[in-house]
Amino acid sequence: MEQKQYKRTTVTAALPYANGGVHIGHLAGVYVPADIFARYLRLKKEDVVFIGGSDEHGVPITIRARKEGVTPQDVVDRFHSMIKKSFEDFGISFDIYSRTTSPTHHDMASNFFKKLYDDGKLLEKETEQYYDEEAHQFLADRYITGECPHCHNEGAYGDQCEKCGRDLSPTELLHPRSTISGSQPVMKKTKNWYLPLDKYQDWLKEWILEGHKEWRPNVYGQCKSWLDLDLQPRAMTRDLDWGIPVPVKEAEGKVLYVWFDAPIGYISNTKELLPNSWEKWWKDPETRLVHFIGKDNIVFHCIVFPVMLKAHGG
Ligand code: 2FM
Ligand code: ZN
Repeated sequence: MEQKQYKRTTVTAALPYANGGVHIGHLAGVYVPADIFARYLRLKKEDVVFIGGSDEHGVPITIRARKEGVTPQDVVDRFHSMIKKSFEDFGISFDIYSRTTSPTHHDMASNFFKKLYDDGKLLEKETEQYYDEEAHQFLADRYITGECPHCHNEGAYGDQCEKCGRDLSPTELLHPRSTISGSQPVMKKTKNWYLPLDKYQDWLKEWILEGHKEWRPNVYGQCKSWLDLDLQPRAMTRDLDWGIPVPVKEAEGKVLYVWFDAPIGYISNTKELLPNSWEKWWKDPETRLVHFIGKDNIVFHCIVFPVMLKAHGG
């Protein structure tokens, strides 16, 4: 296949969670390769931006904050500074290293969701979730503990048993308890908004399997195996009090799912760096986008984010 010619390259490196330090595995797997690539393009006098930043939302940050008796904002402030300094000390040559709690990012992620909502691209679905009546809040899977139905470990979590390694769903746990109040949670109805990945399956098959044969073999292979099965709608909002509020009237107390807002962080950080010319780095067909990611991130970068962008249309 003839190689397409591009005018410029947007290079992104996965935004690390501001919930711990970066370690040598992160550097070796993602940031050093991305840095080498960006430096190489610069040496060739190509047009390149290298975008990084901290991923500052999601449930684990709230769990750490609760354990330490501080706010989630305190947690991300501490780790964002620490991670940023590590990258500087290590010589990772980001053009910008920002964060998903920035005002630019809040606006962009919120507007992105609003456009999908207004254009009818999201599915509204009511489900039943565990709710802590003492703490007055819905419980993310990690906030529920109980007995593993497989190995009978009594400290299993609502998403996984760390003793036998099996993935669980919260309703499988025997004698579930809230880790917040210790009380027994009850099932309660809640509404969330889903991205209908199934509606984009044919497009994804064409775009990835036919159009992106140059992707790394393990990435291409993973995508192919998902696309051979039926994709399901995926929730893009959560009942949680840490994150970007869902910009819809009836969604009070809900935030955008961290994996919805995080990849938008690449775009908002580009906008923060280049307020007047960011669009060409994301919207011009002559721009090439290269992501450096860890293997747990494949589904979000290769399936979910492309569907978000396709649905948005901008
Ligand atoms: O796996 C992780 O560490 C995520 N914080 C990566 C996010 S990448 C991007 F989407 F922001
Ligand atoms: Zn188990």
